[in-house]
Amino acid sequence: MRQHRTPRLLGTLLLVVAAGISVAGAAPSAAGRTATPLGQVIPAPASVDAGGSPYRITSSTRIRVDDSREGRRIGSYLADVLRPSTGYRLPVTDDGGRDGIRLQLSRKDSALGAEGYRLQSGKGAVTITAREPAGLFHGVQTLRQLLPAAVEKDSVQPGPWAVAGGTITDTPRYGYRGAMLDVSRHFFGVDQVKRYIDQLALYKVNTLHLHLSDDQGWRIAIDSWPRLASYGGSTQVGGGAGGFYTKAQYKEIVRYASSRFLEVVPEIDMPGHTNAALASYAELNCDGVAPPLYTGTEVGFSSLCVGKPVTYDFVDDVIRELAAITPGRYIHIGGDEAHSTPHEDFVEFMTKVQPVVAKYGKKVMGWHQLTGASPAKGALAQYWGLDDTNAAEKEQVAAAARNGTGLVLSPADRVYLDMKYNADTPLGLDWAGLVEVKRSYDWDPGNYLAGVPGSAVRGVEAPLWTETLSTSANLDYMAFPRLPGVAELGWSPAATHDWDTYKVRLAAQAPRWDAMGTGYYRSSQVPWPAE
Ligand code: ACM
Repeated sequence: MRQHRTPRLLGTLLLVVAAGISVAGAAPSAAGRTATPLGQVIPAPASVDAGGSPYRITSSTRIRVDDSREGRRIGSYLADVLRPSTGYRLPVTDDGGRDGIRLQLSRKDSALGAEGYRLQSGKGAVTITAREPAGLFHGVQTLRQLLPAAVEKDSVQPGPWAVAGGTITDTPRYGYRGAMLDVSRHFFGVDQVKRYIDQLALYKVNTLHLHLSDDQGWRIAIDSWPRLASYGGSTQVGGGAGGFYTKAQYKEIVRYASSRFLEVVPEIDMPGHTNAALASYAELNCDGVAPPLYTGTEVGFSSLCVGKPVTYDFVDDVIRELAAITPGRYIHIGGDEAHSTPHEDFVEFMTKVQPVVAKYGKKVMGWHQLTGASPAKGALAQYWGLDDTNAAEKEQVAAAARNGTGLVLSPADRVYLDMKYNADTPLGLDWAGLVEVKRSYDWDPGNYLAGVPGSAVRGVEAPLWTETLSTSANLDYMAFPRLPGVAELGWSPAATHDWDTYKVRLAAQAPRWDAMGTGYYRSSQVPWPAE
């Protein structure tokens, strides 16, 4: 650094002055005096053309939006992020000026697609252009990451608030970029889910899969079967009080997710993983006897009664009520670990239940065991096997993919965020192996499963199972720093994939997590800045 030889006081002054004119490509300093290089964002942008004058947010900056409801809303969202830390007024206006932070919806650039954006930063303005509101929102997340980490704090910080000059043009590799939260093994309240949604949005994740039912708890109110929630939701792993979402609360989660451009995929896991339902209604059991509630962590012991007509009344009611409060395209019907359901029964069950999803206007999503039955047209299968899952099982999935079933990849020994990082990790499980940060990042969804056409891969999802996790701090520790890597696998072009440069970008996120109050595991694989 050139400043080394400069006398200290003068050096400080120069640094402050230089903040407005620092060059792209310079290393970011912890104090944020040097603008973050344009490409130093997660997920890596598709295209970066750095150079020219930086832009600087000042007390007179305006956030200029076009005259659309969505544009205004995203402008207000950005203002809410920037105001507490900058201390600036940052009025949101549609008066058409050419300076400031400009958010523009424009149908002209078809290459930007449904989620892409262009960010142009120069002396007088930083302009984000997108065809669709989702693209504007993703561009705003890039802008956040280009600003010093202190921008995330909720009290006034000194700044300055420079954005390096140049242009980013960015579109996602995959349309499905998901994260799953298991609210069944331990229940997480609405505010905890919103917190996770905000953490996901920063990395352009666009799907929140909620695992709403399992052996240990039923978490969504169903009016026609009220004991599912009131009794089936009354406990959790370890015997705590559990809980459930009222329909109003679920709708609030869906609304909040949608305001951050995430689609909610609700899962009712069937025909296995159903002890909470079976405990709530004796008639759902083949022998007519309700089992006790379950607070342990075994799997594979429960099954809906495939031969009983009441099972399908139950399924119809649950899917009807859930579809009615779910604006998203998919209902996830589980299908994993149905070890207590004979194979013929499993196939019969899926054959009967998939049309119910269609009847209520939704598409089927299921764990990849769904490919052992006949996936419905338009279904998505979620692969959760391991690198060394046997070839026959993988081929069953690949054959379904060749036959038109879309795939979402969640290989458990790569992206299950509940796997321990190493043998000393105090939380999490290890049945799929130990999954350090590099391992979770260093694979390619495009060629992960042999014999799968590229077009069948719809994206990736990072599940977070919660047998051992009961607080937001627990979720933070397991999701960070792995989650941003999965988000990058979903968004960034394969050509940008490189652990050695990724780990430097990842390290640069740490001050941001500190500023946001997000905890994380300080993996020795990542060159973190000194604390
Ligand atoms: C799963 O981990 N049983 C989908």
